[in-house]
Amino acid sequence: MKIKVINGPNLNLLGIREPAIYGKRDYAALEETIRDYAKKRGVEVEIFQSNHEGEIVDAIQTCLDNVDGIVINPAAYTHTSIAILDALKAVALPAVEVHLSAIDEREKFRRISYAGMACLTRFAGLGFDGYLRAIDFLIDRAAR
Ligand code: DQA
Repeated sequence: MKIKVINGPNLNLLGIREPAIYGKRDYAALEETIRDYAKKRGVEVEIFQSNHEGEIVDAIQTCLDNVDGIVINPAAYTHTSIAILDALKAVALPAVEVHLSAIDEREKFRRISYAGMACLTRFAGLGFDGYLRAIDFLIDRAAR
């Protein structure tokens, strides 16, 4: 099984950006946590990060016929991007939405998630663990 993890804008600045919200660990630590867990669970993982909406759309499109599931944290594009929603709908792969923070408990504008409309479920407010729960979810679903 192969899973693509897609991270949106400013997640490359983890550790620096608003540590009270996103934590003190950096993006390299997030990648390492995901890779270690994927290895432990026996799945292949590819991780992608971009600050650009179109590159995220391209990354979703290249999942077609290449991966079995998508874990996506579109970051701020969660709340604005119909292009990312449409790309997820277009490839029609099982997708799970992840957010480090509890988006429903923050500003009102973070309560809308376009990408989430094309995802099977959401893990938010669990920090790095949310990505691991998303991997578990995709593995469990594939085994069903
Ligand atoms: C985020 C939440 C978004 O609202 C925010 O714009 C981000 C990160 C999270 O992981 O908690 O950049 O997706």
